[in-house]
Amino acid sequence: MSDTIETGAAAPPDIADDVLVRRHAALQRRLAVEERHLRVPGSEDDALDLKMKIAIPGLTWLLKLSGLWNTARANATKLHLRHLEWRVPGLPADLDGFTILHVSDLHYPRKNNGYAEAVEALLDGVEADLAVFTGDYRYGHLGETDHVPRHLASLLSRIRTQHGAYGILGNHDTHDMAEPLRSTGLRLLINEGTEVEVGGTRLWLAGSDDPHSMKADDFGAALQGSEPGDFVVALVHTPELAHQAAAAGARLYFCGHTHGGQVCVPGWGPIETNCRMPRKYLHGEWEHDGMLGLTTAGLGTTDVPVRLNCPAEAHRITLRRA
Ligand SMILES: [Fe+2]
Repeated sequence: MSDTIETGAAAPPDIADDVLVRRHAALQRRLAVEERHLRVPGSEDDALDLKMKIAIPGLTWLLKLSGLWNTARANATKLHLRHLEWRVPGLPADLDGFTILHVSDLHYPRKNNGYAEAVEALLDGVEADLAVFTGDYRYGHLGETDHVPRHLASLLSRIRTQHGAYGILGNHDTHDMAEPLRSTGLRLLINEGTEVEVGGTRLWLAGSDDPHSMKADDFGAALQGSEPGDFVVALVHTPELAHQAAAAGARLYFCGHTHGGQVCVPGWGPIETNCRMPRKYLHGEWEHDGMLGLTTAGLGTTDVPVRLNCPAEAHRITLRRA
């Protein structure tokens, strides 16, 4: 097998062959799903076909008939930056006060309607030690994506970080977007991890590929190179690897994908969960076996460009010693 693998980066010589094989297998799983998406409509992907033919038109008409369409469309353009402070048990002293900007599900539409500019206005000049992007940069599953790196590069130029911006792919992103995304300055992690040195503390960013529809995750491969004692931060598109990441010793877990439901019923939450996890993981802050997690509603929308009782959001989290 070549030293240059699907991640697009030259593999360090100390990476075990079995990890290269596993990353290659994960890529093959992703490419097989991407191929099926290309066949929609009338695809072999029954779930996606059903969604496009029934769920999307059904929700559109439901909102229009109920008179909520215009409100829901307007809600989708109102973006929020939320500030959180997390008390983290056993947080290394070097990370006390460390700040992380979490952005997810940008879903840049091909026909820009002012959304990209609204995202830039929201995050213009925001300072954080680290920025993490948890996937879904494009709208929909199909079509041209050349506008995506253009918008993302412009956004990244407005964010101020000490240690850079890191990202993963979502279930709407295709593998051929990896290099254009990297060209923006985003450090893309596809079943791989990297060290971030903070004072004398090693923070390990473990970036998984999408476990939901791509089934391309290999969290173990994302830990390759980490060392005992590292403060491991998991970046996963969905909350579906929470158990696995916590068992592997991750301390923090950032994800999106669910959009918080996009359309929610007060007191109940999302109508559609789009996630194989209990409802507590679908939106907001949660804890799993001592690991702190955040499922953001994200900034964008997809399928139907609306939000109801589920505002668009990004987060800036400050870590504090418990
Ligand atoms: Fe998404």
